[in-house]
Amino acid sequence: MKIALFGPPGAGKGTQSRLISDKFSIPSISMGDLLRAEVRKGTVLGKEAKTFMDGGQLVPDSVVIGMLRDRLQGGDCDGGFILDGFPRAISQASVLDEFVKLDAVINLSVADRFLIPRITERRMCPCGTAYHLIFNPPITPGICDDCGQKLYQRDDDTKETVLKRLEVYSKQTKPVLEFYREKGVLREIDGNKSIACIRRALIEILNSLPR
Ligand code: AP5
Repeated sequence: MKIALFGPPGAGKGTQSRLISDKFSIPSISMGDLLRAEVRKGTVLGKEAKTFMDGGQLVPDSVVIGMLRDRLQGGDCDGGFILDGFPRAISQASVLDEFVKLDAVINLSVADRFLIPRITERRMCPCGTAYHLIFNPPITPGICDDCGQKLYQRDDDTKETVLKRLEVYSKQTKPVLEFYREKGVLREIDGNKSIACIRRALIEILNSLPR
């Protein structure tokens, strides 16, 4: 099962991808998490990527495509994977299509008015779990339910950067939907609903895919 979750910043890609990863025992590969790991390690690549991420821009293809290729070669991807945040431009989709044929690209469509509050009130755990102060709070405020680490707010989760990210999504990422529609693998889910509702819809789609 090779799938990609698609949608604007704050659509719930990371949240759903982690839930589905557990359910189907396939890895969730978040390009944002891979990049943030490089930033935390202070690598040259991480320093270059941070400038783009903090400005709400896409990190260049020359960086992200190589990272994705390396990650997909991990033995844990043999039985399938879920991509979260890749591809994000037609150029990325075209290259990906040369070495991986996706079984489904699932678009979480969410009204713009919900996206900014979802992001500005998100709190992250270093382990990758996302919380929301209102819609999905941790049991103990400020602490991850899964691993007990302290939650933090992402540097790019300010209102100003979110607006830029939404603009970049609209101009550079949204056109990728047509690419997959033409290939007949695009599926749609109403991402305005609750986390549990979306998870159920996603499982239904995944169970309907040919194995
Ligand atoms: P990335 O980390 O991928 O950020 P993003 O795509 O902007 O998406 P988010 O992580 O903000 O949102 P999400 O859809 O995962 O939502 P989440 O589940 O957390 O990328 C960051 C940066 O890295 C990019 O800006 C770019 O610079 C770079 N980058 C990454 N990939 C790249 C690529 N391919 N090419 C070039 N550059 C790249 O949910 C959001 C919040 O809402 C959470 O608080 C959650 O608890 C809550 N929530 C989730 N679902 C619901 C729901 N149904 N109802 C209510 N609340 C909900």
